[in-house]
Amino acid sequence: VDENTPTQTLESRTLEAVAKLIKDGRASQIVVMTGAGISTSAGIPDFRSPDTGLYANLARLNLPQAEAVFEISYFRNNPLPFYTLAQELYPGNYRPTITHSFINLLHNKGLLLKLFTQNIDCLEREAGLPGEMIVEAHGSFARQSCIECKCPYPHDLMQKAIREKSVPHCLQDSCNGLVKPEIVFFGEQLPTQFFMNKALPAEADLCIIMGTSLSVQPFASLPQFCSEGVPRVLINQEQVGGIGSRTDDVLVLGDCDDGVRKLAEACGWLEELEEMWAKT
Ligand code: APR
Repeated sequence: VDENTPTQTLESRTLEAVAKLIKDGRASQIVVMTGAGISTSAGIPDFRSPDTGLYANLARLNLPQAEAVFEISYFRNNPLPFYTLAQELYPGNYRPTITHSFINLLHNKGLLLKLFTQNIDCLEREAGLPGEMIVEAHGSFARQSCIECKCPYPHDLMQKAIREKSVPHCLQDSCNGLVKPEIVFFGEQLPTQFFMNKALPAEADLCIIMGTSLSVQPFASLPQFCSEGVPRVLINQEQVGGIGSRTDDVLVLGDCDDGVRKLAEACGWLEELEEMWAKT
């Protein structure tokens, strides 16, 4: 940087560099990896933020430890804490954030290879992203079934149970097992769709990671599958998951809605993004 150019912050210089890759067509196979942090501005708490996170606010359910609310072994013995919480988590009364719209904008510009999300709020779909572009690594509330015989459970009866905070049981009278939405609990296998797509990051020419602590495996290992030399951009309130260890890593620490606005502006897409989000 010669002395008479305005002193750009390191961050704006690196965002400019990422935007240049995209504008020059050298980043057109973008993999995006997201967590609960992209939905906090929609009003959905994340899990591990110190005061506002879900795990810091479950004391009223007197669980052995906060994550038990999503443990299959605990659920089998005592499903009520989950069904108490499910009403707050159930999709439908939240609006996608501008970060969700940014991912959809990448797709509309033919630049999105795949979105891997850990979120169960379905806001990616509500923002307009087609289902085949999304890997819901931790499942979603879209379907529910019996944890014993796997028999599907009717959606309208599930919505009634969630509304009434009652615990639904399998309709097969010989079974009567507990019914659970198909969100992945600790101790359960991730969907096959995750394993079928987990090698995709190796084909990406840019990786954008947003709103996740990268603290839960196997999702947290996805960024490592990006090839050397492919920039991994972390847009997050805190540095996580060893991102920053490679020379091509880019850290944009702060609110993800601000980060995507800055990146969109550097790409010359800010107005288009704001208009798109205004319509969600
Ligand atoms: N902007 C940017 N970053 C944010 C914002 C925001 N508005 N809000 C929160 N964050 C960051 C937090 O600093 C944290 O690093 O997002 C991250 C959220 O981390 P978690 O709460 O651990 O959420 P997540 O990574 O999605 O959790 C992974 O844990 O309990 C399981 O299955 C559950 O899918 C979940 C998994």
